[in-house]
Amino acid sequence: KAVTAFAPATVANVSCGFDILGFAIGDMGDRVKVSLSDQPGLRVVSITGDGGRLPLEAEKNTCTVAIQAFLDRLNANQGLDISLMKGLPLGSGMGSSAASAAAALMAVNELMGTPFTKTELVPFAMEAERVACGAAHADNVAPSILGGFVLIRDYAPLDIVKLPVPEGLYTTLIHPHIELRTADSRSVLRRQISLQDAVVQSGNIAGLISALYTSDLKLLGRSLKDVIAEPYRALLIPGFYELREAIQKAGALGSGISGSGPTLFVLSESREIAAAVAKVSEEVYAKIGLGVDVSVAEV
Ligand code: HSE
Repeated sequence: KAVTAFAPATVANVSCGFDILGFAIGDMGDRVKVSLSDQPGLRVVSITGDGGRLPLEAEKNTCTVAIQAFLDRLNANQGLDISLMKGLPLGSGMGSSAASAAAALMAVNELMGTPFTKTELVPFAMEAERVACGAAHADNVAPSILGGFVLIRDYAPLDIVKLPVPEGLYTTLIHPHIELRTADSRSVLRRQISLQDAVVQSGNIAGLISALYTSDLKLLGRSLKDVIAEPYRALLIPGFYELREAIQKAGALGSGISGSGPTLFVLSESREIAAAVAKVSEEVYAKIGLGVDVSVAEV
C-alpha cells in the first residue's frame, strides 16, 4: 500500500510577518510517495529533481524527520519507504524543505488512516525545519499544509490562524540564480530591535491582516514593509533595490523577500501587471548578468 501527496511552495514572512505569516503558491511544489514496508525503520529509497544533493539519511532528510516525529507521537513503529520528487529549487526561499516535509506528512497521514488533522501535522513538519535550518519556524510548513494565507499567532503553545485570500491577487516570483541557506540568512539578523522599529512593524502587520479580511489590495501593498529582516538580507541579494524600483514602476502593489531569499515575491492586482513585473525583472537581471527564473501565479 502506498500514498503519494503534493505540497506547494510557500512565501514565508510576506515582508512584515517575520516567522509568523506565509502563503501557499498552489501549482509549484514537491511530491512524496510513502509505502508500507515489512522491514522496520524509515528508508528514503529515491530522490529525484535535486541534482543528487539532498541527504538520504533518515535523520537528515526533512521527509523522514517529519515522519519520525509523526510516528513517535503515535507510538508507532511502522517500517516505511519514502520517495521524494522535488519540484522546487533548494536554497531559493520558496519553502523547498518545508514542501518536502509537508508532502511526506500528508502522505503518511492518509496511509495510516488519517489520525491527525492538517493543523495537527504542523508541529511534525516544524521538527524537519529545525533540522534543515536550525530554527523550528512554521511560516513555510503551515501554509504548505493548510493552503492560502496562514498566521502563526504564537509558537508556545502553537496557535495557527487561517486567513482569507482576497480575489484577484497575483504573485510574481523572481528567483535569481544564487543560493542562500536559511541558516545563513538568519545569522545576519539582529537579535534586538528598537522600539521605533517595533511600532513600524506592528502597524504593517496589522494593516496586512486587515487588508486580507477587507480585500483592500492597496492597503495590502502599503503594508508590505519590513524593517526587521529585509534591511540586512537585501545586502545578500544582488540587484535588490534596483529590482524593487523597477517592480514599483511596473505597477505592482508591493514586494518583499520570499522567506529568507534570494527569491523576491511581488503582489499585483492583475495577471497583466504580474506579467509586466516578470518582464522588467528579467531585464534587470540581464543587465546585472545573473540568470533568473520568473513565474506568475494566482494566489
Ligand atoms: N521565517 C523564516 C526566515 C522563513 O525568514 O528565516 C525561511 O524561509
